[in-house]
Amino acid sequence: MKVRFEPEGIELEVDPSQAPFGHDGKPFSILDIALGHGIEIEHQCGGNCACSTCHVIVKEGSENLSPSTEDEEDYLDRAEGLTPTSRLACQAVVKGDVVVLVPKYTRNIHFAPPPGAE
Ligand code: FES
Repeated sequence: MKVRFEPEGIELEVDPSQAPFGHDGKPFSILDIALGHGIEIEHQCGGNCACSTCHVIVKEGSENLSPSTEDEEDYLDRAEGLTPTSRLACQAVVKGDVVVLVPKYTRNIHFAPPPGAE
């Protein structure tokens, strides 16, 4: 199945039987796949659903992700630039083709972006 990361336009062909990729987050989550292929997404809590720094916006294929839990929703509420299709990358397990936008920065309440950052 295909996972595409915007805005860079990096498209990966990934195989669930290869998961986990030995990184943080649930096996075959967006975070696991990204980190396993050299795409850096913030993940301050180590992929344990205890922050909101791994916030991504799903542009296509939200139906191809595992449903979000109440815990995930609680942390997402604190994410910068929250949208109706926002997910925590460490919790959203990929089940089919998806396109995700990684915001320029994601932050939690303890982190301030550098001056001039969007
Ligand atoms: S890395 Fe902290 S919630 Fe995903």
